[in-house]
Amino acid sequence: MTLRSILIHPDPRLKKVCEPVSAVTPEIGALAEDMLQTMYDAPGIGLAAPQVGVLQRLFVMDCVKDDDVAARPMVLINPEITWTSEETNTYEEGCLSIPDQYAEVTRPKTVRMAWLGLDGKSHEDEFDALWATCAQHELDHLNGTLFIDHLGRMKRQMITRRMEKLKRERARA
Ligand code: NI
Repeated sequence: MTLRSILIHPDPRLKKVCEPVSAVTPEIGALAEDMLQTMYDAPGIGLAAPQVGVLQRLFVMDCVKDDDVAARPMVLINPEITWTSEETNTYEEGCLSIPDQYAEVTRPKTVRMAWLGLDGKSHEDEFDALWATCAQHELDHLNGTLFIDHLGRMKRQMITRRMEKLKRERARA
């Protein structure tokens, strides 16, 4: 397994609509393992392939935060939302591609998603609360949408300027 470097916003690769995964190959399996390791290392609760520069439709997540509860790593390939609740939920979201910036985003509280697993089989399940927010945030990434795209223009531009500054500082370091 290899830790992958995470792209920082603004980056054109984070704004692309990703291509469906055509087959669950060993390479996709290795990518998913790398992404999980990179996510846990960050640490974060979700990571989408475009964040490591791979423009394909898959993401990983694990929203178990309690150290006493077993980790629940999930890999969702070609995920689609099949149902969303009317009820919404507001969470303070962050993103590994937008470090140290947080803002409230309102999304459906519960969603059903269908996807391909690493076993190559179809799966469908319902996600609620933090899991639902995380799954929708990661699915957004596959369509070139970041959580700051759900905010007002002023706030989005302010965060983007901070990230441009961070990238300049990192480039100099
Ligand atoms: Ni993100």
